[in-house]
Amino acid sequence: MLANTRDVLKHAQHHQYAVAAFNVYNLETVQAAVKVAEKEQQPVIIALGERYFPTVDVEGFSAMVKGIATKASVPICLHLDHAYEKKSIIRAIRSGFTSVMYDGSKYELEQNIQHTAEIVDIAHMAGVSVEAEIGSLARGSFSDEEEGSGTLTDPLLAKEFVAETGVDFLAAAIGTVHGMYQGEPNIDLGLLEKIRQEVEVPLVLHGGSGTPDEIITKAVQAGICKINVNTEVSMEAVSFLQRYFKENEMVHLSTVMADMQMAMEPVMTKFVQLFANR
Ligand code: 13P
Repeated sequence: MLANTRDVLKHAQHHQYAVAAFNVYNLETVQAAVKVAEKEQQPVIIALGERYFPTVDVEGFSAMVKGIATKASVPICLHLDHAYEKKSIIRAIRSGFTSVMYDGSKYELEQNIQHTAEIVDIAHMAGVSVEAEIGSLARGSFSDEEEGSGTLTDPLLAKEFVAETGVDFLAAAIGTVHGMYQGEPNIDLGLLEKIRQEVEVPLVLHGGSGTPDEIITKAVQAGICKINVNTEVSMEAVSFLQRYFKENEMVHLSTVMADMQMAMEPVMTKFVQLFANR
């Protein structure tokens, strides 16, 4: 069933697990995520980034995800990931997304608070929940995200930000990167504990790909309720396609797409099981 992201994350917070938010770009990524969620009997968040708006029919895509979600036996959320423009957020709300992320990290704190609070007002009137980020992630290899400053979250600023904006969940920058790590990850779990002490809303971790399992487990135990995953799933699909075209000269596209979906499912399963903290 289609579910409100805030309700799903409140449940995760209460029961100390994290929900996977998979970035999707096509039917196959959506179907793979929902299939894995049903098999594992875990909720999942389908996340479409604003950066894909120029190539994806947002209203059509939303209708498709909602159709698939309605038939699912577990909660499925539809989330707008990293949106920088108010008009993208309104478009997502109008087409039935269950949550939106406003990324105002390029602004000074005061301005970020002002913009975010305005988005929260609009989204809440439509029953849509809002994620925001304090600090910002650096970009590693193979990522499709914007380069961020790598500034870590200040716990006291995070507290002020949540109190003044009314966001429903907060992305904490603790040293994970978007994409694969270049060198050893340097993730500050102590900082996460401090943020947790100051902030009551569910916390989100961006940059799930390549993050060591033991760090993920500790982060979930320290209060992370949603973990975003993009790059590792994309890499799995692309390397599958490279192998496929080496081994098969001319095949039908429908077969390639169905097989690519199957190739993505094990990597999504790995994340869903790890985040479930069972
Ligand atoms: P990865 O690409 O590192 O998995 O991060 C995804 C993400 O955080 C999207 O918001």
